[in-house]
Amino acid sequence: SKKALIFDLDGVIVDTAKYHYKAWKKLANNLGFDFTEEQNELLKGVSRVKSLEILLEIGNVTLSDEEKLKVMNEKNEHYLGFITKMEQDEILEGIPEVLNYLRENKVPFSLGSASKNARLILTQLNLIDLFDAIVDGNDVSKAKPDPEVFLIAADKLKTAPENCIVVEDAIAGIEAANSAQMTSIGIGDKETLGEADIVLSSTAELNIELLEKLLRK
Ligand code: BG6
Ligand code: MG
Repeated sequence: SKKALIFDLDGVIVDTAKYHYKAWKKLANNLGFDFTEEQNELLKGVSRVKSLEILLEIGNVTLSDEEKLKVMNEKNEHYLGFITKMEQDEILEGIPEVLNYLRENKVPFSLGSASKNARLILTQLNLIDLFDAIVDGNDVSKAKPDPEVFLIAADKLKTAPENCIVVEDAIAGIEAANSAQMTSIGIGDKETLGEADIVLSSTAELNIELLEKLLRK
């Protein structure tokens, strides 16, 4: 069986989660309510529009469709301000080694992200050419926890979902991987990501030894 990997972007390849949080928090504050880091967990892995809906629900705020578009654009502009200043040293620990190992061993891998900024971020970090396929928020109609993004990735990698190993930091992403019948690796704490097949506390634990074990199975 031809094994393949699918990587989430935000919180797995690079710690953009903190920038998303800052930008959403500013929007919440502008709308007159606070937004905590704990609440931010609910937005991880979720599409931009769905994130806004969750945020508005938390603040008990209603906006017209037109206002929603406006604040989403403002949030993204604010976010892009952080992203375009990002440096390669913001790539999470161990990730470059893992990607290089996979390439050297001809194990195909794809991105599977909800972000519409994914290509921009991978270009900025000089990682875009390493990937065999990229599936992001521009390619899907159903957001995580729907498995669509990962199923498209498996298809692009020309392998069956059962052969795919997904690396994810979000609850919605783990759910998506599980319902796609893929092996799920959660990056984060066990409490939050209990549904994952394997939980690692950080990307530093996603080492070659573990990968070799999973690829041999
Ligand atoms: C996910 C992030 O990867 O992408 C979410 O975890 C984010 O927090 C979503 O809202 C959409 O990202 P973007 O860049 O299209 O706003
Ligand atoms: Mg993520």
